[in-house]
Amino acid sequence: MRMVDLIIKKRDGHELTDEEISFWIEGYTKGEIPDYQSSAMNMAILFRGMSKREIATLTDRMEHSGEVIDLSDIKGVKVDKHSTGGVGDKTTIVLGPMVAACGAKLAKMSGRGLGHTGGTLDKLESIPHMSIAKTKEQMVEQVNDIGLAVIGQTASLVPADKKLYALRDVTGTVESIPLIAASVMSKKLASGTDAILLDVTVGEGAFMKNMNDARELARTMVNIGKSLSRDTVAVLSDMSEPLGMAVGNSLEIKEAIASLHGEGPEDLMELCYTAGSIMLVQAKQAKTREEARKKLHEVIENGEAFNKLLAMVKAQGGDVDYILHPEKFEISKNIIEIRSEQEGYIKEIDALGIGVAAMKLGAGRETLEDTIDMSAGIVLAKKVGGYVKKGDLLCTCYTNKEDYADVLEDIKASYVIVKEEVKALPVIREIID
Ligand code: URA
Repeated sequence: MRMVDLIIKKRDGHELTDEEISFWIEGYTKGEIPDYQSSAMNMAILFRGMSKREIATLTDRMEHSGEVIDLSDIKGVKVDKHSTGGVGDKTTIVLGPMVAACGAKLAKMSGRGLGHTGGTLDKLESIPHMSIAKTKEQMVEQVNDIGLAVIGQTASLVPADKKLYALRDVTGTVESIPLIAASVMSKKLASGTDAILLDVTVGEGAFMKNMNDARELARTMVNIGKSLSRDTVAVLSDMSEPLGMAVGNSLEIKEAIASLHGEGPEDLMELCYTAGSIMLVQAKQAKTREEARKKLHEVIENGEAFNKLLAMVKAQGGDVDYILHPEKFEISKNIIEIRSEQEGYIKEIDALGIGVAAMKLGAGRETLEDTIDMSAGIVLAKKVGGYVKKGDLLCTCYTNKEDYADVLEDIKASYVIVKEEVKALPVIREIID
């Protein structure tokens, strides 16, 4: 078999056989097929798509390209969640403790941020001494003890995705439904979970820009999960404006702490309650989503969800003083307020624009080698639908850089303010199960 023939076959719109997909993924993982041929294949798939069978085979071959984790030593139903990425997305840090406080078992392997999307691991690492490197045995022990662990993916988990994702990121081939579906589901399947909650983001700050594509991606992933006997449900959530108010690592941890104290922004909390109620039913900790929602409200009100975050941070070596006293987090040297130059309703806060601006202020990486400034980022004062007068605060920017003037202009350009009244955007767009 020759890789070039498979590229031509896909380029011309034909289906690849299971053997051909195995040849590509195995050869690429071993380093026998070069990046340039895999890039060409990714681009052919982006334009030509894949059949259900091809996607199922690609997912399976990627899942088995490395270690497949057995979590059967964890007692009870293991649930996992995955977001397709967004700006200000600290959902796992709020939702994880909430569902664990209600009895679900969450053993989550998370990723780092790249480009305009932030990664949960980077956010967690803004808590001094917090360790995200754990062996499988340590993770199992921690989940059996406290119900929750959020750690980094081990190098041996789905190596094909690591290579392919890095390649797609620099070759304009991220936004392909078959490639995203196989990437997400291969990781979830390899990490040993019983049930999967997918948060498929949609809007300018997400990879799926419109509802039709988001729906197709969600259906594709739910079908893969179900065909392999994993209880899989997808929530389609809005990512046209940032989620919550804070964008940036320690700023988001502070928002997550406030949320667990019952002071979370409405959109973030609604996403956590909706996703959490599905997860509790999946984990057999509630019979209906309504009963689950009540339980989730209770653990926020009685402090048990906050205590779970404390327990997780302690178990992973983090300094719990920062969780108890978030004012201890270092604050950036430069704090710049952006105020409205007109009166009216906020119609748009472009999530992509805010995500890229936060990254430029120091909150994200432009290349994998960059180091992150944990204190940098942006805190919104109002969301879409909010009313501002001339001179009212739109957002506050935090940075240790000095050359930030252009970034402030980009942030201003992310806002659209109009005279006519604008309704707040609903965060939950649809549920697919
Ligand atoms: N998240 C993933 O894990 N993979 C993708 O391809 C896109 C988003």
